[in-house]
Amino acid sequence: MAITRPGEVKAMLPASPPEQPEDFGEVIADLDRIVMPGLSLWQHPRFFGYFPANALRAGMLGDLVSTGLGVLGLSWQSSPALTEIEEVVTDWVRQMTGLSVEWSGVIQDTASTSTLVALICARERVTGYALSRGGLQAEPRPLAIYVSAHSHSSVDKAALLAGFGRENLRLVAFDANYAMRPEALAAMIEADIAAGVLPCAVVATTGTTATTALDPVAEIAELAKRYGMWLHLDAAMAGSAMILPECRWMWRGVEAADSLVINAHKWLGAPFDCSVYYVRDPEHLMRVMSTNPSFLQSAVDGQVKNLRDWGIPLGRRFRALKLWFLIREQGVDGLRARLRRDIANASWLAEQVAAEPEWRVLAPVPLQTVCIRHEPSGLSGEAVDRHTTAWAEMLNRSGDAYLTPAMLDGRWMVRVSIGALPTEAADVAFVWDAMRRAAKESAKEAIRASQSS
Ligand SMILES: Cc1ncc(COP(=O)(O)O)c(C=O)c1O
Repeated sequence: MAITRPGEVKAMLPASPPEQPEDFGEVIADLDRIVMPGLSLWQHPRFFGYFPANALRAGMLGDLVSTGLGVLGLSWQSSPALTEIEEVVTDWVRQMTGLSVEWSGVIQDTASTSTLVALICARERVTGYALSRGGLQAEPRPLAIYVSAHSHSSVDKAALLAGFGRENLRLVAFDANYAMRPEALAAMIEADIAAGVLPCAVVATTGTTATTALDPVAEIAELAKRYGMWLHLDAAMAGSAMILPECRWMWRGVEAADSLVINAHKWLGAPFDCSVYYVRDPEHLMRVMSTNPSFLQSAVDGQVKNLRDWGIPLGRRFRALKLWFLIREQGVDGLRARLRRDIANASWLAEQVAAEPEWRVLAPVPLQTVCIRHEPSGLSGEAVDRHTTAWAEMLNRSGDAYLTPAMLDGRWMVRVSIGALPTEAADVAFVWDAMRRAAKESAKEAIRASQSS
């Protein structure tokens, strides 16, 4: 596998569009010639990078049909089946993940959007609908948002875009397992109240991006209730695992949240994009998000859901179709079996790494991500960092597998994210061998360099 250099793909394309129609065969040939070599193959059995973003075949077909139909859900009336299938299928996912009937779902494009919607709703609840007055700018007290230092960057971004300002974004400390510490949260809230700041919302994560850490939702929910704050749960990655009853302890307390997001476009298998956003108070969501231009009004508005009032965009793709196709084609049992396979593979790898001298597993492995470091004797501090990025890069360049290095506690480590659709136990055994080979080779170099300096 050749590594694509910056600008290489652009250099193969003409700078201006063709004036005349081209032979479509040539367009398709360019797909193989230009596009394919410039892609990371997320659906490859030895793709262990980032997180699983699976594209199940039935989901792909659903997406293709949706695109081909070219329908838009501006309102129920503009394509009734689009809305009603979305209502049903988000309710299926609710049942599959063990959530109570108190939750209502809607599909957003991404978790980033879902979290932005959540924080806007939090702002409006806490201020008693400031948007109908002078907005956040006219509020007498600044409003604070609390997130874990391990929250996804989309949470910070949502807080900033919703107008809270960086000065009012609190990063709560985490424990040895990288989970938010409720007592640190409580102390921050108290300090804010004493300083005249109004606590507005807390975002907890079930399955953080770096290590799949699990924030203690029940304890955080208690604080949210005590201080009148909104609780949003980011289960973008790990939410899929809640189809497994044995995993539901991971978000114990979820029923006390106000909103939550599960990215069906990650591990579950819906091709990107398909983020399922749930709220307990849809009336509030609609009051914050609704618009009602005359050209979108219809005689049945009192009897139907108009999903434009459940999020930011007016236009809505028929994303529900891919979820509907894939759940029917797999059955919930089929989906459960695949996730259980991935969890078993991750726990096998963690055992191997932990048992190997000079290798460390750096965080608990509740799901499918294993965070590891090779720490050869003779190397320490920044030399280990250089070694870590060097062996990961060596492995990635070999084309044998793909992994993502990341920082943890200020030091480089390597995340092995298991869960691409075709990844079987043999692929995980293969990557473990390949990691040891790459690390051995890089360690020799690193130790030689450190001795000669
Ligand atoms: C925990 C978590 N939250 C949010 C996101 C962002 O997801 P999206 O790309 O759907 O905005 C990710 C994705 O990497 C994630 O792992």
